[in-house]
Amino acid sequence: MATSHLPSNSMALLFISFFVLMLCMENAEAETRHYTFNIQYHNVTRLCGTRTILSVNRRFPGPRLVAREGDRVIVKVVNHIANNVSIHWHGIRQLTTGWSDGPSYVTQCPIQTNQTYIYNFTITGQRGTLLLHAHISWLRATIYGPIIILPRRNESYPFQKPHKEVTIMLGEWFNVDPEAIISQALQTGGGPNVSDAYTINGLPGLLYNCSFKDTYKLKVKPGKTYLLRLINAALNDELFFAIANHTLTVVEGDAIYAKPFETDKLLITPGQTTNVLLKTMPEFPNASFLMAAGPYFTGQGTFDNSTTVGILEYQHPLGHKTHSKNLTLIRPSLPPINSTSFVANFTMKFSSLASVKFPANVPKTVDKKFFFTVGLGTSPCPENTSCQGPNNSSKFSASINNVSFTLPSVAILQAYYYGQSNGVYTTDLPAQPLSPFNYTGTPPNNTNVINGTRTVVLAFNTSVEVVLQDTSILGAESHPLHLHGFNFFVVGQGFGNFDPNNDPAKFNLVDPMERNTVGVPSGGWLAIRFFADNPGVWLMHCHLDVHTSWGLKMAWIVLDGPGPNQKLQPPPSDLPQC
Ligand code: C2O
Repeated sequence: MATSHLPSNSMALLFISFFVLMLCMENAEAETRHYTFNIQYHNVTRLCGTRTILSVNRRFPGPRLVAREGDRVIVKVVNHIANNVSIHWHGIRQLTTGWSDGPSYVTQCPIQTNQTYIYNFTITGQRGTLLLHAHISWLRATIYGPIIILPRRNESYPFQKPHKEVTIMLGEWFNVDPEAIISQALQTGGGPNVSDAYTINGLPGLLYNCSFKDTYKLKVKPGKTYLLRLINAALNDELFFAIANHTLTVVEGDAIYAKPFETDKLLITPGQTTNVLLKTMPEFPNASFLMAAGPYFTGQGTFDNSTTVGILEYQHPLGHKTHSKNLTLIRPSLPPINSTSFVANFTMKFSSLASVKFPANVPKTVDKKFFFTVGLGTSPCPENTSCQGPNNSSKFSASINNVSFTLPSVAILQAYYYGQSNGVYTTDLPAQPLSPFNYTGTPPNNTNVINGTRTVVLAFNTSVEVVLQDTSILGAESHPLHLHGFNFFVVGQGFGNFDPNNDPAKFNLVDPMERNTVGVPSGGWLAIRFFADNPGVWLMHCHLDVHTSWGLKMAWIVLDGPGPNQKLQPPPSDLPQC
């Protein structure tokens, strides 16, 4: 029957049914995903010894969090350990849901022993790989796991559909409790002990003692394309990664698609994620190939100079059992430890798709400019104590514009929301260094930092530019800066001191890479831009935990906007108390 023959009220009914159906389809597309994370003790044997670690659901690395773009995620975190804990969903934008971001004493008080907190957020405009980790002291050494955001149903990748997807999480293993290491270091003022191994999916690999069996194996078929979701969850080390005799195609960074580019080696900083396509050889090769990860380091202190490996093992076409020990094992070469030039070139290879579907919404004009020095410094040794920091007479510290950030004893977001900033934080972090110096030249005589919980307040939707300038105080060093609550565009970078007259002309405002973590070049600078379109309190810090512990962090306070979706939501009723 033709609809035109229906009486008009049936027509209306038909229309209503049609709209209801449309609404249902919308809802069917976005799901709510429920998880329970029990933070527990867990015995793990690595490198000839067994240690009790803290982990999620007695899994190391922790379980995967999988969702699609647009989904709501609800994670009930239950603390069964003696330490306070909180979990950060690193890279998730948390639009208006700052209460679920996770950094302890910034957006929430930590979850105390036997307490529970429910994180509740929606994944908006993101797809790819991110990571989750504990965000208090050094607990993320073992409390970490992948976040996998699939495209919406009916949507595909802007690259060849892979035969299989594999997560490769790089981490760092300590033979002793990392909490003991950092608390001792903060006490003495010296550099903390370094890790005993790097790991691939929690396994150190056969180059370490007692680790032959603890080697990650990736079994592949010839002539296929694999999507590797690389994550650096290491505590304190930027890592090079390569697979012998294989070229990788980078297609994404920090859950943002990138213009594809090929490379045989890559760098990944703590907090960064990189999706790469691995095309396997067309025929069965009579060899196995090692994948390896090892440190990039330019600082003055000690570091873990070891290499973790895994095995890329081809399946024999006739199903023959090939014992890897009978096959030649080919090892990749990694760039030299201090290859700053490789790192700079590699960082610059990333660019956004900048397509109609995935535009690069980079601020073309800037409302607020900041010039932040990032680097190390000192604190005086308290009287009648001995210190093991610089010159054995001071303590190591780290700062932004010479302010070393101290965490308050309550959450900044709570203090902000209830208008109780007094005694918790101030809003006077300088936008420029108060006493300029030759940042990458001879350091000033006085390297002491100022301590404080100093923030910057931004009106909603301010377009922000931050130039991050490394300093050579106590050694130039790369600092992987991470911004909570936003992605930023990497519009420029260079070596030496930033030149405000000539460098901005070279900024890429067309297709800069969008990410949440990026390395400030050792002895150089980096310029980022973002729109402050997410109300709340957002931490920005170096993702080397040792530097974060020393104070290389700050917080942005973004005010509510006028619109209904531009306001920080009220706090959930189960928000932990300090
Ligand atoms: Cu992945 Cu504030 O950290």
